[in-house]
Amino acid sequence: MRVIHSKQDLAEQLAEWQHNEEHIALVPTMGNLHAGHIALVELAREHAERVVVSLFVNPTQFGDGEDFDDYPRTLERDKRRLKKTPADLIFAPDVDTMYPFGVENATTISVPGLTKDFCGASRPGHFDGVTTVVLRLFALVQPDVAVFGQKDYQQQLVIRRMAADLNLPISIITGETIREDDGLALSSRNSYLTDEQRHLAPMLHEVLSSVGSELSNGRRNFKELEANANQRLSAAGFDVDYVAIRRAENLEFPDRDCDDLVILAAAQLGAARLIDNIVVAI
Ligand code: PAF
Repeated sequence: MRVIHSKQDLAEQLAEWQHNEEHIALVPTMGNLHAGHIALVELAREHAERVVVSLFVNPTQFGDGEDFDDYPRTLERDKRRLKKTPADLIFAPDVDTMYPFGVENATTISVPGLTKDFCGASRPGHFDGVTTVVLRLFALVQPDVAVFGQKDYQQQLVIRRMAADLNLPISIITGETIREDDGLALSSRNSYLTDEQRHLAPMLHEVLSSVGSELSNGRRNFKELEANANQRLSAAGFDVDYVAIRRAENLEFPDRDCDDLVILAAAQLGAARLIDNIVVAI
């Protein structure tokens, strides 16, 4: 498995693969890899002969006062983990490589509508940073397929929309959320939890699952279900940002005879912002 930091080395490797008519799958990450990322790499391999994993802590998707400086940078450990997977190449650029004219002068991609609510409302500019860096990675790696995790549900919808709107010739694939045995969704930010908070954290998934069961049983009083879930989490000590039931396809408000639903939640627990979701097939 090669580790490449420069655009030029990347272009040379891609030229060789393209010459051999090999398809390329990209798994964009910010590093600090866990089993959820490894599952995405394995999924990517099912769709292409070559798998590139990008490791880049993207400054433009962090707001003021967020954890950009503290975000764990673990390149050596990530390399060791990826050696045991079907990844062919790690692309680990630095900030100047990704933003050659500087972060302040970066051409920015923005997907309106889908980014207005939820994490978009609580983290202004976050999704512009995500789409801006993902489009740059797409331009550099030229993948046929790109794989994102369902845990970041709104993010994968936003990226799908960008790809469709710009006619990018890239299939976007979503990999299922990988969980600890107690239900907590794997996330790099779980390492910020104290022992006590870690003990409480699975309740987020537990509450979403119980809302999911209510919806599967035919309950459609969405507002009340959201408010109850919010109240249960707040009472337990979560600082709830949102719990929302929306149409899975586009995050619009559902009606009673809706299509598939998604229950989205975000809550702060100590230093960790936890997000999770459950899709309920109707
Ligand atoms: O989900 C992430 O880790 C990041 O938002 C992504 C997609 C790698 C862009 O920096």
